[in-house]
Amino acid sequence: MTRPNTVIIRYTMANRVNHWITAICFVLLVLSGLSMFHPMLFFLSGLFGGGQWTRAVHPWIGCVLLISYLGLIIQFWRANLVNRDDAAWMKSIKEVLVNDEDHVPPVGRNNAGQKFVFWSMTLLIPVLFFTGLVIWEVYFGEATSIPVQRVAVLIHSMAAIAAILVWITHVYAAIWVRNSVRGMTQGYVTPGWAWRHHRKWLSELASGQHGKTTIRKRP
Ligand code: HEM
Repeated sequence: MTRPNTVIIRYTMANRVNHWITAICFVLLVLSGLSMFHPMLFFLSGLFGGGQWTRAVHPWIGCVLLISYLGLIIQFWRANLVNRDDAAWMKSIKEVLVNDEDHVPPVGRNNAGQKFVFWSMTLLIPVLFFTGLVIWEVYFGEATSIPVQRVAVLIHSMAAIAAILVWITHVYAAIWVRNSVRGMTQGYVTPGWAWRHHRKWLSELASGQHGKTTIRKRP
């Protein structure tokens, strides 16, 4: 596909590297976690060198995910603050889902769906991390009682299921809204994309509110 003449930088290299480290960790955690969740899924542990390796490596990947997601929180919390546009956008969710966005109220850099993903993960990842510490037997097994560990493993599993559902929604939306993935792989979107999906953001950019370097002519 040819690169358009005018592009808008949506994600910097730092944003993208941070995002994809998070995504890779998440997928690895899902695969290794599911292999320990049910015997029918134990075969997935083969990807990590067997059951013992899976058990050993899963919590460490969780630590990397927490740090990596903290990076995303620092970079994106401001863009995900809830405002009045979100309620109006939510009321038009049916049009968004059938890709008929002409009459959907304009939104800024992120829509309510993206904000939902962001804040859900902001809640779920620390819950997964801290309940994970409680059940990390090799280091913290002695620190808490067995009944506490039982509750922790239940919350850990429920939070993981919720995070997987949020993640599926996120990936579906990323694929459904054409050319969003390019924003996260190559960093740019077109003015047409921004007009269609984030019209207020485009107006802010055009009026120079986000600095001069965001909209670029292709050299
Ligand atoms: C592995 C598959 C994944 C794919 C294909 C994917 C795809 C994308 C795409 C295309 C965007 C840009 C959306 C836009 O600009 O409109 C994005 C943004 C984002 N993604 Fe993902 N993602 C994945 C996994 C994850 C995971 C696992 C997390 C968190 C745990 C995550 C958190 C985020 C965040 C925080 C943003 C930035 C949106 C913002 O808050 O400003 N992603 N992702």
